[in-house]
Amino acid sequence: MQPKIRMVEDRALDIPERWETLDFQALKGLVMVLGGPDVGKSTFAHYLWHKLAGRGQGVGFLDGDPGQSKLGPPTTMTLVTGKPTASLKAEARQVRRAFVGSVSPSGHMLQMLLACSKLIKAAKRAGIQTLVYDTTGLIHREQGGLLLKQTKIELFAPSTIFAIQRGVELEHILAPFRRSKRFRVIDLKPSLATRERNTYERRAHRRTQFAKYFEGARSVVLDWSTLGVLPRPYFTRTGLVALEDSFGLTLALGITTEVFPKDRQVSLLVPPVPLDKLVALRVGDMGLDPQSFEDHRL
Ligand SMILES: Nc1ncnc2c1ncn2[C@@H]1O[C@H](COP(=O)(O)OP(=O)(O)OP(=O)(O)O)[C@@H](O)[C@H]1O
Ligand SMILES: [Mg+2]
Repeated sequence: MQPKIRMVEDRALDIPERWETLDFQALKGLVMVLGGPDVGKSTFAHYLWHKLAGRGQGVGFLDGDPGQSKLGPPTTMTLVTGKPTASLKAEARQVRRAFVGSVSPSGHMLQMLLACSKLIKAAKRAGIQTLVYDTTGLIHREQGGLLLKQTKIELFAPSTIFAIQRGVELEHILAPFRRSKRFRVIDLKPSLATRERNTYERRAHRRTQFAKYFEGARSVVLDWSTLGVLPRPYFTRTGLVALEDSFGLTLALGITTEVFPKDRQVSLLVPPVPLDKLVALRVGDMGLDPQSFEDHRL
């Protein structure tokens, strides 16, 4: 079958027929997009958001992938709310972030759940009625994907799950929910236009996202004795740190450039954003080179 190509934002997309027959009006609450790596989750989630945003009320987008994030720096999840406009990236939209501290959910499952929970709560406070949630491709049991995905489904209780799979690779996650009919599952096949990205491309994407985020960054010195430090003050050079408000949301990310343990001070490279609501620091497990923007595990 010939792919049907349409422009969405500035991208040429293949729109499978099934996508066009979906009942967008019926979608309310949390709408989760699940699938393994490179099946087109983010592309479909963006398409969905565009369709819903046309309704003109209470629609939000949660970019829940701290590795291949489209809307924020890696290591974070991003919630976009506000008046729907033609583009998800438009300045007018309000952006909130939560720090996971890693580019992969492996070894950071609790941080993933916490970040996600903070942003879903923030979406509720912002009056969002329909939230499109784009997830990571971690689905394998051995890597913790089974438990992470099932826990998220039980904890956040989506009204609808879009399951994108080539074969039956999601069934170990979904079968119990299909049988108990607790959540509505809508099955989709990946578009023929999906393409896989290798490790090099994924790294390059992260580098670009980080470089964009830290554009115009300046140095700030913070006295950590006056701030809450989570989980504990183990600052290391190049380490990524989140500067948080009282909701635990990220005001800014910082790259640690210097640590002064005796003075309990830390010097960070931070983008030029207001920090007046700063009450806590959250130390992550990734380092970032402030010149090349290459990330590494600490
Ligand atoms: N419907 C589509 N039309 C055109 N290109 C597509 C379509 N779906 C996916 N692609 C392309 O395939 C690649 C993977 O898509 P996408 O990033 O949406 O997948 P993903 O499942 O979110 O991947 P990840 O596991 O990295 O999160 C991208 O280069 C994207 O542009
Ligand atoms: Mg994706």
